[in-house]
Amino acid sequence: MKIQIINGPNLNLLGKREPETYGNQSFEDYFVLLKSRFPTVELHYYQSNVEGELINKLHEVGFSFEGIILNAGAYTHTSVAVHDAIAAIKTPVVEVHISNVYAREEFRHKSLITSKCVGLITGFGMEGYALGIQFIQNSKI
Ligand code: DQA
Repeated sequence: MKIQIINGPNLNLLGKREPETYGNQSFEDYFVLLKSRFPTVELHYYQSNVEGELINKLHEVGFSFEGIILNAGAYTHTSVAVHDAIAAIKTPVVEVHISNVYAREEFRHKSLITSKCVGLITGFGMEGYALGIQFIQNSKI
């Protein structure tokens, strides 16, 4: 089973960026642990700060992989284009946020992508990625 993790803008700075909100761990370090927790899953990781590159990656894997875990970062709240890309592909997308977006500023309460995702995981820290993988694995969607 192939699962693609996609992280959007500023998430390359995890571990350094606002640690009180996003923790102290880099995604690269977390990804090593994640792979060891899901040895039977072929996990792929991609990060970009560029909206169009995130869309290209969704198109690239969205007809062949079994699942996509997407943390679109701030594009979650602004991007009709990411919404349309999720609608256009076949692979189910799980929306993940490290922080609890509903406990934060009001502009983070609106997601343009949730309606096209199979579900939303928010506020469980990095563990949200593992929960998303577990869901795809268990449901074999
Ligand atoms: C985030 C929440 C977004 O509102 C924010 O713009 C991010 C990270 C999260 O993982 O909590 O960049 O997606």
